[in-house]
Amino acid sequence: MCGIFAYQWNKQALPILQRGLERLEYRGYDSAWVCVMDAQGSTKLIKSVGKVSELESKISKQTKGKEEELNAFTRGIAHTRWATHGVASEVNTHPHHDAGNHFYVIHNGIIENHAKLKKQLREKWYTFYSQTDSEVVPALLAEHWTGDLLETVEKVLPLLHGAYALVIMTTHAPNEIVALKRWSPLILWTAPDGFYCSSDMQALAGYATQTVTLSDGELVYIKNNDYIIKAEWKIIKKDLEKLDIKAMDESRGEYETFMRKEIDEQPAIIRRAFMGRVNFDEKAIHADATKYLKDKEIQKVVFVGCGTSYNAGQMGALWMQNIAGIDASAKIASEYMHQRIPTDPKTLHVFLSQSWETADSIEVLKHIKDKGGLTFGIVNVVGSTIATMTDCGFFLRAGYEIGVASTKAFTAQMINILMLTLFLWKKWSLSYDRYTNILHAMKTVPSLMEQIIAQEDAIANVAKEMSRFNNMFFLGRKYEYVVADEGSLKLKELSYIHSESYPAGELKHGPLALIEESFPCVLIAPHDGLFEQNMSSMAEIQSRKWKVLVVSNRETEWADRMITIPSAHPAVMPFLTTMVVQLLSYHVAKELGRDIDKPRNLAKSVTVK
Ligand code: AGP
Ligand code: GLU
Repeated sequence: MCGIFAYQWNKQALPILQRGLERLEYRGYDSAWVCVMDAQGSTKLIKSVGKVSELESKISKQTKGKEEELNAFTRGIAHTRWATHGVASEVNTHPHHDAGNHFYVIHNGIIENHAKLKKQLREKWYTFYSQTDSEVVPALLAEHWTGDLLETVEKVLPLLHGAYALVIMTTHAPNEIVALKRWSPLILWTAPDGFYCSSDMQALAGYATQTVTLSDGELVYIKNNDYIIKAEWKIIKKDLEKLDIKAMDESRGEYETFMRKEIDEQPAIIRRAFMGRVNFDEKAIHADATKYLKDKEIQKVVFVGCGTSYNAGQMGALWMQNIAGIDASAKIASEYMHQRIPTDPKTLHVFLSQSWETADSIEVLKHIKDKGGLTFGIVNVVGSTIATMTDCGFFLRAGYEIGVASTKAFTAQMINILMLTLFLWKKWSLSYDRYTNILHAMKTVPSLMEQIIAQEDAIANVAKEMSRFNNMFFLGRKYEYVVADEGSLKLKELSYIHSESYPAGELKHGPLALIEESFPCVLIAPHDGLFEQNMSSMAEIQSRKWKVLVVSNRETEWADRMITIPSAHPAVMPFLTTMVVQLLSYHVAKELGRDIDKPRNLAKSVTVK
């Protein structure tokens, strides 16, 4: 969701910014923009609704034959917008500027009091050209201009409410840039060839080896070849951090999409998750985080996340209850704050996020921290907000996920949760045999997953048939109900087919009313203690002429279609069935010609509430 990239100093800015925008592309956006400035304050602005590639072709048309001229433009800002206020149109695309074209601003996030601020300015005859909340910022800068950029920004800042990251340039002072953040990520990098600034650590990888991650309320003021950082109007010193992520593997290799590549990466990621943490010979799980938890009295576990991360939390809650016998639940982060949940010191709050930037989850984390709750992070990015704020945690070690629809992050979250479950269980439980059984089952997951990948053609054939329908149901029980939830989410994100998920036993309590031949059903029914019940559900469905696709390790002649999977311990079966629903959704979307890595209206990280 939305991205910022800025550069200032002595190189031609345009190619640097273009590259930065390409790096930000995976986050999801609806329009892109680039603006460069020379030392005299002349600007060149190129905006485009749609893909970065469309912006790039506009840039090459508009700059053809003027390459020499562009050398003077050694500073600039670039933005990928994910519209929150105002449609995706050229006029709403950032940067926004004031009426006199002196202040240029890119903005991630939301200025919550924009309506009030706009009203006040309108009363002074100011006219706004866009529908965005962001345009109010350059208007206020012009209104409060003191002749000094830093001073003016500091005057305007207290007027702005909400969550934002801003980068500001002005024609009055072309050698200066101000970047600041409040609840929206922003990172600065300094190098001999200039200052780079981005909302995404990954966008700096390859350029940057040392960065400064700004904290909320901090501001960086860059002037010529120097910079200062300020917090609460005082200059502060911040150490440079080593940027230890590698540049994203931008080549998809032979894969058609990043998502398909990420599906294949899953077995290796699960193996990597075990490294140094699980000793299968000694039947032990140990990591820094488990050392931290060793002496803590934990009576309850609450998982917090959104979307797919919430689904991983649902699975975690079931594992905690059924395997470890610990009271557990999963909460949707955006609902948490409305539920008045007491923060008990014996509750472990597990925060799940592949992106680390999800505003809803961060809000809950801040709340729990304020209340003194015990927090555990399961995240992908070292140095990220959730990683630094939680008391301890596991890193996913999954590598960057580029496809907007989460796949490898989900299974990586699940394996980390299962390790945490087994660790907590072993701490209290006496049932050693069951513990070792599940530990052994966990070890088999990667090779079983590889067997699912080997069945891709059969899954793709079924997907071809599924793609003809406009509605779909995903059903399951217990762990497989969570997989049904995840399958349904994947299908709707990727294919735009309406789909719903239900616990199979819930069908007769309402959803059966929807029955029509055109509403097929995916029933995830491994051969476990719930198989017979699932077969009864299938009979209920079929007697009303619905078609049923059964995903199971036990062949059943009654199924209209069947995807047969290998047998596995019920606790780890969700890793296999998840891969089936991922591949199914992928192939339905492919059949329908959808933009698989960047589904419409969605963003990779949701940085606004
Ligand atoms: C997953 O396919 C979705 N794109 C979405 O539900 C996502 O899982 C959710 O927005 C949470 O993101 P996070 O893991 O980065 O916090
Ligand atoms: N709220 C701003 C807009 O709608 C910024 C959105 C973004 O973060 O990209 O333009």
